[in-house]
Amino acid sequence: MSVLPIVTYDDPVLRQESENISADSQDLQTLIDDMFETMYNGSGVGLAAPQIGKSIRLFVMDADVMTEDTDEDDLGPLVFINPEVTQKSDIQVSVEEGCLSIPGVRDSVNRPESISVKFFDRNFKSRELNVTGWSSRVIQHEIDHLDGILFIDYLGSFRKRLLKGKLMQVKITIPPNGW
Ligand code: NI
Repeated sequence: MSVLPIVTYDDPVLRQESENISADSQDLQTLIDDMFETMYNGSGVGLAAPQIGKSIRLFVMDADVMTEDTDEDDLGPLVFINPEVTQKSDIQVSVEEGCLSIPGVRDSVNRPESISVKFFDRNFKSRELNVTGWSSRVIQHEIDHLDGILFIDYLGSFRKRLLKGKLMQVKITIPPNGW
């Protein structure tokens, strides 16, 4: 396994609509293992394929570090291939997020509290999960990556202006933390 380089916020790959993955895709297992290692190495709880320069619909996640002191279930390490949100709760919650591609920046984002998500696991078995709280938030953040959306896109123009100086420094990389 190896740690892959993480691309930062101004890389065009982070703005592309990613492609679906087919079941006969080559080298997928190695890529998934490398993505887990890259995520844990950056102390992240989620990592999407565009963040390592691949425009394909895949992300890995392990949010147990966030859910262990809550009522939420610890889901353990999970692989999501071609994920699709099938339901969203009307209730929205605002929670602070970060991103491994935007190191040093954190801000609050409004998102539905609960979602249902359909996806394939690493063996291309079809799965469906109903999730709430942290797991729901991380999954929504990662699916956004597959659609070329970053969490800073949700911030108001005032907050964006405040962040501008910080974003310019992202190139001079500080140790990452986030998703
Ligand atoms: Ni992210």
